[in-house]
Amino acid sequence: MKKQTHQFSYIIYGGIEELGDIDRLLLQQARELTSVSYAPYSRFHVASVAQLANGEIIKGTNQENASFPVGICAERSLLATAGVMFPNEIIETMAISYLPEEGKSNHPISPCGMCRQALVEYESRVQHPIRMILSGMEGPVYLIQTAKDLLPLAFDSENLQ
Ligand code: THU
Repeated sequence: MKKQTHQFSYIIYGGIEELGDIDRLLLQQARELTSVSYAPYSRFHVASVAQLANGEIIKGTNQENASFPVGICAERSLLATAGVMFPNEIIETMAISYLPEEGKSNHPISPCGMCRQALVEYESRVQHPIRMILSGMEGPVYLIQTAKDLLPLAFDSENLQ
């Protein structure tokens, strides 16, 4: 019998102004993109903006549906866009922000469990980590080096062998 410990490190910036140029641009765009998310049911608007290794910028927003489970999160709508428009291209960095119609947006949110699974699949598909920048419309910014850090003991294709 042995006890196993899992830990990961991430960086907390005080605000967007502490980020480098590209990261700041991605987060700024994600914040702006929340205004066009389709979230009439939850009224919780989420947006993601990513830079690919080929320099392209791609975007995603949550897309809800009157049949609630049909809705898709911002992160997975971005991943679907990547897979369709730029198959097998590395996603270097993804910024995520959110804007609730009521309440504050001054701390980071992190991707839901289903999105974590999809992000880890994308990382393994292109064999490259996705840097994740998480922040509200204002306030601190988290920088996570790989989506894999958010899903310890992930189920992946190797488990199907
Ligand atoms: N949502 C996202 O788009 N990304 C997340 O990481 C968390 C949740 C969406 C799903 C739903 O449209 C709304 O936010 C409320 O859960």
